[in-house]
Amino acid sequence: MSSEAADYNAQVEAVREAFKREFERFARFQDDQAVEALTFDEAEDLRRELEEVKTLLTARKSAIAQLRKLIGRVPAEERPAFGSAVRELDEEIKDKFLHVAVKLIGHIHRLNIERERVDVTLPGRRPRRGHLHPITLLRQRIEDIFVSMGYAVEDGPEVETDFYNFTALNIPELHPARSPQDTFYTTGGLSLRSQTSTVQIHAMQRRRPPLRVIAPGRVFRRDTPDATHNPMFFQLEGLLVERGTDMSHLKGTLSEFVRRMFGPATRTRFRPSYFPFTEPSMEADYSCFKCGGEGCRLCKGSGWIELGGSGMVHPNVLRAVDIDPEEFSGFAFGLGIDRMCGLMYELDDIRLLFENDVRFLEQF
Ligand code: FA5
Repeated sequence: MSSEAADYNAQVEAVREAFKREFERFARFQDDQAVEALTFDEAEDLRRELEEVKTLLTARKSAIAQLRKLIGRVPAEERPAFGSAVRELDEEIKDKFLHVAVKLIGHIHRLNIERERVDVTLPGRRPRRGHLHPITLLRQRIEDIFVSMGYAVEDGPEVETDFYNFTALNIPELHPARSPQDTFYTTGGLSLRSQTSTVQIHAMQRRRPPLRVIAPGRVFRRDTPDATHNPMFFQLEGLLVERGTDMSHLKGTLSEFVRRMFGPATRTRFRPSYFPFTEPSMEADYSCFKCGGEGCRLCKGSGWIELGGSGMVHPNVLRAVDIDPEEFSGFAFGLGIDRMCGLMYELDDIRLLFENDVRFLEQF
């Protein structure tokens, strides 16, 4: 070998050695196990680094590129040997980069699939379940008791004409209940019903006697909100019209209701009262379910809790819907659901029921 040839060989070897040093940090990743031990991020970083080093070591001004350019300038007799040595090194460099890059890309691809895999056997995320409002729960309990006593559930409009809200209920022209200070009026002269007693009229017109109905629903009064008053609240009306009905049926029905609602030892008490649409009229009370009638904070020491208004249907009310009071008689009652709910759950303030605070509602 001429000294020139040895010199060319040495140049090729020098570039090979320089490449080896640069490639050293990637060399161990020619092995599958080393690549597989990499995390996704490590593999991504390494692939980027590899790409950068490859660009650097194979660019136009790189050592191997210089060698390639030199081929043409080498004396003819040395050229074939030098040329093939350079090409061999060139191939070797590209192969090494390619080899590691292929392994890294394969590994990244597999990790990606793994990462994005959906485990269809995992239990789904359950949507948070709501539940019925405490007023609805109580209303349904009351309904169940009356339905089991043969009552049908009736419904009526919340916006009423004068006839249903007042006239048919025997409420005289100048009665304070008609005043705009007590009742909400629309500009068209309609009013929001201030009691579910309006449904008595609809029910008698629709069903004709003999009939037994209850009518739960929203009512509206211009009451200033406080711990026991809301301008919108729920009542439950009861009406029975049959031949030969008298006060004992009314008392027996309400007594049976409170026994089923609050326990068999619950007693009732009836006090004379006045409602335009019943005669005679009574306020019904029941013995406190907390202290059994001894007197406690809940019943304000009296031993009794107010159930609602009641009485025998006034003959004028029957006449308003063309029912003959000589043939039929009936009784009616009306309970306030919100206050009952407030007492049963010992709420300090019934306004809580409509504030829609989830922390409150979740407790039922
Ligand atoms: C009446 O509304 C009559 N219609 C009841 C009736 C029906 C009598 C059938 C005779 C025959 P009263 O105005 O007392 O009665 O109301 C009945 C119940 O509604 C009360 O006992 C109370 O529990 C509830 N209540 C009245 N005002 C409010 C209010 N602002 N907020 C919450 N509850 C109320």
